[in-house]
Amino acid sequence: MITAKQLRQQYLDFFRSNGHAIIRSASLIPDNDPTVLFTTAGMHPLVPYLLGAKHPQGTRLADVQKCVRTGDIDDVGDATHCTFFEMLGNWSLGDYFKKESIDFSYRFLTEVLGIDPARIAVSVFAGDEDAPRDEFSADCWASHGIARDRIFYLPKKNNWWGPAGITGPCGPDTEIFIIRDVPACSETCSPACDCGKYVEIWNNVFMEYDKQADGSFLPLAQKNVDTGMGLERTVAMLNGFESVYETDVFRPVMELLDQKAADVPDRLKGMRVIADHIRTATFMLGDEKGVTPSNVDQGYILRRLIRRALRFARTLELDPAVLTECARIYIDLYKEPYPELGENSARILDELEKEITRFSATLQQGLKEFDKLLKYIQNNRMSGKAAFKLYDTYGFPIEMTLELARDNGITVDEAGYEACFKEHQQKSQAGAEQKFKGGLADHTEQTARLHTATHLLLASLKKVLGDEGIQQKGSNITAERLRFDFNFPRALTPDELKAVEAAVNEAIAAGVEIVCEEMPIEQARAQGATGVFDSKYQDVVKVYTMGGFSKEICGGPHAANTAELGKFKIVKEQSSSSGVRRIKGVIEG
Ligand code: SER
Repeated sequence: MITAKQLRQQYLDFFRSNGHAIIRSASLIPDNDPTVLFTTAGMHPLVPYLLGAKHPQGTRLADVQKCVRTGDIDDVGDATHCTFFEMLGNWSLGDYFKKESIDFSYRFLTEVLGIDPARIAVSVFAGDEDAPRDEFSADCWASHGIARDRIFYLPKKNNWWGPAGITGPCGPDTEIFIIRDVPACSETCSPACDCGKYVEIWNNVFMEYDKQADGSFLPLAQKNVDTGMGLERTVAMLNGFESVYETDVFRPVMELLDQKAADVPDRLKGMRVIADHIRTATFMLGDEKGVTPSNVDQGYILRRLIRRALRFARTLELDPAVLTECARIYIDLYKEPYPELGENSARILDELEKEITRFSATLQQGLKEFDKLLKYIQNNRMSGKAAFKLYDTYGFPIEMTLELARDNGITVDEAGYEACFKEHQQKSQAGAEQKFKGGLADHTEQTARLHTATHLLLASLKKVLGDEGIQQKGSNITAERLRFDFNFPRALTPDELKAVEAAVNEAIAAGVEIVCEEMPIEQARAQGATGVFDSKYQDVVKVYTMGGFSKEICGGPHAANTAELGKFKIVKEQSSSSGVRRIKGVIEG
């Protein structure tokens, strides 16, 4: 039996011994990226470096990144889909390319993990008008003894990765599959089929293109390798498990649920949904940027997950307190590799309990209301007004109403629901979902300037509010505005807002040069730089200094001089979630 801990260790050791620097997992909340709500892949925090910026740790990197993908939420409950997962990744930033990448993967799988090469199948890019057929990768695999009939040529739909959004780094990939000891669904079954014969465990992307807004592919300045291996899936495959829920990261929670859940139809699915959603919620609540349940953006996704878990708990006749029990188990299981969960355990349990209390009160009544509505429904269609009532009065996220409707064979007038929602002037979660599905931030000069303004804003908040404890809780930048979240217990007064704005404009008027230096993290700390001081992996960091105004650890990019910013204006200050304030600001001129 191999555990998640052993696989993480073996992976990092292998790549370290092959010249890779080990970097720490980034937060689940991306920095300065308006188009995605969560970090969805190991490459996500590395986009500036894939585009050519120099990484302080060098050109060979490896890590274990916490990731959230909620696009497949309806598939959770099957053997392999999870909303949270850990991605083992290794990168070449303009260093090695296809041959070495395939060599590393083959050696790690067969020599370190001891997988029988006969159980490995691979796919390579079949070629089209954008890029040639990848015979080179096929030959590399064949040179290791992978039989030609286990090397599959697949089209862009299967064997191309990225860009994560609309534009950016992307390229053909080669994917690695474990062939399971189950009958194939047909003679033509291949890794493109999801019958379960082939389970993908690793994806090596050869990022050599930069997709443009017009759809064309230009060569990237440097050829990169971006790989990602799903930790839970790989542990399941190595142990011959049928599902990820049998692995050590889930087993204690599944055992608890198994003891307590009633014997009802679809029991296993319900247990898996709870195990998955509470794990994801634990990581979101415990993240270094700590999300709390709310009606917008990340907070809304978190709320949906907790509420959905509660609904399944009710079906399984579980006391809602079992969900907090599950979170406690996860904190214990994960606090070694992810110390933030241990450090934030009180917040995780407290916020979870609060959300459970909030929703438990209305869940039962809401379900009764739903049943009542069913009786009066015409043409098997629920009106938008009824769906909105379930949301507004009983706290049912629309996705939950849609799911319940589907289970009962009816549809919902979603447009009608949206109209009611807008009427009540609340921000639509559809926006949040769209963002989630979207891509990565652009790195234009305007966004760089707004990013610089964000540093000045944080420094000014600290100066005006005189609170040593003020920290960045989130940052989101579009070409038009910045949005900045920070911890503070109350609304800012008009005078405070004016003073903050003035302090930022003072730094702009001073026209100071922005200096970027690489230095050991200890030195950055000694110089009083703002940032996350976790020296577990990362010993060299980039520090951006803006005269005497601001000094922050950051990946960049930034303006060259504060004078480039024009005039800074705060357009809004509001609550973001409990104990967190949000400022929206623009630069003009
Ligand atoms: N970015 C690729 C993926 O997510 C490889 O890491 O699959």
